Amino acid sequence: MTSTLLTGIGELWTFDPALEDPTAAPVTGAAEGQVVREAALVIDGEHIAWTGPRTHAPAADEQVDLGGRTVLPGWVDSHTHLTFAGDRAAEFQARMAGRAYAAGGITVTTAATRAADPEVLADLVRARITEARRGGTTCLETKTGYGLTLADEAAAAQLLADLVAAGELDEATFLGAHLVPPEYDGQDGRPGAAEYVHLVTGPMLQAVRDQVRWADVFCEQGAFDLDQTETILRAATRAGLGLRVHAHQLGRSGVVALACDHQAASVDHLNFLDEADIEALAATRTRQLRPTPGADATPGGYAVDQGPTVATVLPACDLSTRAPLAPARALLDGGAHLAIASNCNPGTSYTSSMSFCVTTAVLQQQLSIAEALRAATRGGALALRRGDVGHLGLGARADLHVLDAPAAIHLAYRPGMPLTHAVWRAGRRVV
Ligand code: NIG
Repeated sequence: MTSTLLTGIGELWTFDPALEDPTAAPVTGAAEGQVVREAALVIDGEHIAWTGPRTHAPAADEQVDLGGRTVLPGWVDSHTHLTFAGDRAAEFQARMAGRAYAAGGITVTTAATRAADPEVLADLVRARITEARRGGTTCLETKTGYGLTLADEAAAAQLLADLVAAGELDEATFLGAHLVPPEYDGQDGRPGAAEYVHLVTGPMLQAVRDQVRWADVFCEQGAFDLDQTETILRAATRAGLGLRVHAHQLGRSGVVALACDHQAASVDHLNFLDEADIEALAATRTRQLRPTPGADATPGGYAVDQGPTVATVLPACDLSTRAPLAPARALLDGGAHLAIASNCNPGTSYTSSMSFCVTTAVLQQQLSIAEALRAATRGGALALRRGDVGHLGLGARADLHVLDAPAAIHLAYRPGMPLTHAVWRAGRRVV
């Protein structure tokens, strides 16, 4: 195993969990000692072996001088929908001319995805992963959800499982409950939504349960209501999957509290919240993660079925749909765990740029750079119930994002500039 010493780090953000006091007040930015100036770092094989001031650095097999640049943990993007064909530029253009976003647009992508050659679809997903990597994302979740037939959802889940097995993708989610497809409209003798929920909770879940770690539901007007959502969440839990929920994007359905009750790992979007929602999320803050036996066999060593419910905001989606920006500041102030994700998808957020999301969170959502960085790294890892990524503490996966800037604040100070200089993933330089 080769070790590499990185020197010339102007600013190193470790978010090292060992430097946090679990009994102290919530850490919303960086704790004491988690930012090191004039720093160095040692990668040993796939993991972080040492971080600290340059003057104390140990020797290593190889050495790389980063010339005063900033080093962050790689972004953890905990919410994307990369398994699709086609685009929806025309819908986006109409939206910019004043039309509102509606869930029904998903059917356009479903038709294109069903029609796509499986090899072409696989290449599209791989290309999108590469694109995310180039922007500093080193841990990536993605979903099924544009197939919506048994065969198409099973094929998408298998594709994602293959990518996880190949080490290209980190987390796979089943989103058969993205929309009730048009062939289940209950008209002219066709089956209705109840039959589709039966398909999702029965044959589809059976077909995908060994391919994915998570199940997700789009609980919203025009998609699935609260009762249908609870039925799907219960079935997914029985199938051994962890839960994630698209929540309060277009209105306040009440699913945030339901998701907290069901130990969901994350509720995502959150454009419409009241104080009770924030309190429900904050009340999950101290719920313990359950370490799994044989931690090496599962990412980060945590079970999917227990832990805090993380509030995941999706700033690029909010801008692209001209929705009110999710209240990230109020969520943090109220005591919720916060994550930032890209929500890359063709309908509401056709970007995987986590740097753009972090910039927006600082410029528009009143987060400090420390709070935004943490939400896009540690926060995302918690939303995926992983302890091995999202930080650069001892033993973490060596996922680094090197910025061509002397300090991380440049992400917001120089918005839109191409600041990603280099990316390491699992100890290997990939960009
Ligand atoms: O997270 N809201 C539901 N799902 C996606 C959008 C899907 C689409 O419009 O294609 C989202 O925004």
